[in-house]
Amino acid sequence: MPRGKQMEAHRNLSCVITGANRGLGLEFARQLSARGDQVTATARKCEQAVLLKALSVRLETLDVADGDSIAAFAGRMKGVPIDVLINNAGIGNAGKDLAQLDFDELARYFRVNSIGPLRVTQALFDNLLSGKHRRVVHITSEMGSIAENTSGGYYGYRAGKTALNSFNRTLALELAPQRFTCVVIHPGWVKTDMGGNEAPLTVEESVAGMLRVIDRLTPDQNGRFLDFLGQDIAW
Ligand SMILES: NC(=O)c1ccc[n+]([C@@H]2O[C@H](COP(=O)([O-])OP(=O)(O)OC[C@H]3O[C@@H](n4cnc5c(N)ncnc54)[C@H](OP(=O)(O)O)[C@@H]3O)[C@@H](O)[C@H]2O)c1
Repeated sequence: MPRGKQMEAHRNLSCVITGANRGLGLEFARQLSARGDQVTATARKCEQAVLLKALSVRLETLDVADGDSIAAFAGRMKGVPIDVLINNAGIGNAGKDLAQLDFDELARYFRVNSIGPLRVTQALFDNLLSGKHRRVVHITSEMGSIAENTSGGYYGYRAGKTALNSFNRTLALELAPQRFTCVVIHPGWVKTDMGGNEAPLTVEESVAGMLRVIDRLTPDQNGRFLDFLGQDIAW
């Protein structure tokens, strides 16, 4: 498709973004709403989402670790087609050594970073089926790559993202016959509450890169592990 036509095909998308009250999620909401897409932005505490409220978005409450919250959100979204679902919400913190591991905390990483996105996708499946593009984007991390794990630490965060990568691959294979494109994207190391001030990338740069990748996704990329520049990352 010529470039102009391709860009046109990506106008007026209906997008859902989880964890959109700060960080990368907020920037996704900013850039997508600024270019005229219809954005449903979710946050755990909408009343506190001051920056998000200032944008032209539909604001919805959603805690991705809570099945009731997901079901209620899906209920409110009934009948709304979704072209692109961006499962962005996530948690992370400094790694701990074996001796300090807290197993309840470890389980929380799986609930929020792995099971949460899959559950949101399941709940919004009919919406995605009625959308134009059928794209599911999971914001993962290079830290979920087993091949690239040469420094250790971060048991919960790494394994939670590895599980998310695995879920995505299985989902991609199941939904390929229905013309879905499901990918995991690493945003780079980005200045946010999670990434910290030392990070080399701004949210603007990272999200602009990820949107370029998302806009240009093709069915042959279904199931892939990409970075914000569209390069493949080793599993
Ligand atoms: N920044 C980086 O360098 C980097 C690198 C690799 C991957 N990532 C990934 O990028 C995504 C966004 O990260 P970020 O840097 O923007 O982090 P962030 O600034 O810490 O923001 C995290 C977002 O996730 C939300 N969230 C956390 N738990 C949630 C839950 N149970 N339900 C719904 N929302 C929840 C937070 O909402 P509250 O305000 O309510 O807590 C917040 O909106 C994450 O998946 C992260 O793992 C980031």
